[in-house]
Order: sequence, then C-alpha cells, then structure tokens
Amino acid sequence: MTEIYAHRGSSGTEPENTIPAMKKAILSGADGIELDIHVLKSGELIVMHDERVDRTTNGTGFLKDYTLSEVKKLVVAKRFFRKVRVPTLEEVFNLIGTSGVILNIELKTDIFTYDGIEKKVTDLAKKYPEVQVMYSSFNEDTLIRLREIDNKAKLALITHKNLDAVLPLHTKINLEAVHPPIKAEKDPVVSNIPARYWTVNKEEDIEHFFSAKAKGIITDFPERAVAIRKRKYPH
Ligand code: G3P
Ligand code: CA
Repeated sequence: MTEIYAHRGSSGTEPENTIPAMKKAILSGADGIELDIHVLKSGELIVMHDERVDRTTNGTGFLKDYTLSEVKKLVVAKRFFRKVRVPTLEEVFNLIGTSGVILNIELKTDIFTYDGIEKKVTDLAKKYPEVQVMYSSFNEDTLIRLREIDNKAKLALITHKNLDAVLPLHTKINLEAVHPPIKAEKDPVVSNIPARYWTVNKEEDIEHFFSAKAKGIITDFPERAVAIRKRKYPH
C-alpha cells in the first residue's frame, strides 16, 4: 500500500516544521513525517525549510548565523497564548519516540553544504534506535557522504530529473527511493526505483498515486490522505 508522509509535518493545518505540525502528523495516522534540517552557528541541527528565518519567524537572517539560544527566541506562531518556536531535530526525535512513525530527514544542503552535517545527523539518529529514519536531499554529494558514513542508511534523492537519469547514482550508492515532484507525471509502476511524490494534496491526485501503487506520497494534508486510503482499502 502507498505510504503517506506528512510534508514538513501536517503543514496544511499547522505551521510548517513545528512541534504542533509533527504532533498532528503523528495523530493523523501517517506512516511518516518529512522535515528539513540546517546547521546552526552553535552546531545544533535545526528544523526549518528555508536557509533564512524571515519567511516563517519574526526574525531575520540566515540560520547558520544564529546560536541555539538566539533561534529559540524567535516566534513562528502563537497558539492559545503560547508561542510556537523553531524545533531542534533532537526535539522531534524525542517526540516521535516509539510511535512507529518513520522520520524522513531532508538535508537542506542546496545553498550551504554545512560541513559535517551528514555525521551530525547520523550520530543523532544513533541515539534514537527506536526511530526509523530515512534521509533525503536534492544534493547528490550529501547522499554520497551519508552512504560513506552509514552503509545501511535509507537514502532518497529528491529530483526533478527523469527517473532513468538517476540510475548511475542508484548504482553507486543504492538509493532506497527517489522523491520526484508531482508534476514529473511518470508512471510510478514502470520506474526502476520506487518513488514517493511531492506535494500531493488534491483528493484526485492522492487517489491517482494510490491507484498507480506509488511507493509513497508526501502531502501537506496527511489526515486527508489517510481518510482516502482507508476508504479505498478498508481492510
Ligand atoms: O522531500 C520533498 C520536498 O519536501 C522537497 O521540496 O521545497 O518542500 O523541501 P521542499
Ligand atoms: Ca522538504
């Protein structure tokens, strides 16, 4: 059955890449959570989509120029008189715990390569053996470095390329999957590598990828996708 991953947590209903979005994703019954990471000036792995804090917080500037105590002062949103802050990756590991939800960590190394990010993230994951992890990136070099560090890691290339163009990298580092954009429109059944498509939000598109038996979809609305899957496959 097609896997359902919550994109940046349940980002269609909660502020993206925050603890409320992760909690909602876990409650939705999704198989996994996709999130994005960067490295702070003080060395911690932090969960945010953009390199800059400007779009999603009340701050300004690059994450790489923030310490953890500085980034923790930023506000993403207000919820019932409480402030929603930017989470560290470790906080998300703790939240997922033994829930059984798979954690898809996207290393956002497209603009800054964050020297050592691959070792940091695999070291952190080792502290949480109860959490199943899969790594993804647009950056092929990042995935190659992850493979050098961990020969068992599940790796997915996020790509706009034709899936066949990914085969040389697959041969080199044994990808678990590719993550193409929904507009790639390639029949997932005939591709050589399993594909999880993003960002699949509309009911008709969710149905399409379920019927096509795609490996997975990555969606902003995991609750919606889980409901459709239950309706389509009641047992
Ligand atoms: O992992 C797929 C998707 O998250 C990649 O795009 O920009 O949402 O990180 P983006
Ligand atoms: Ca992402």
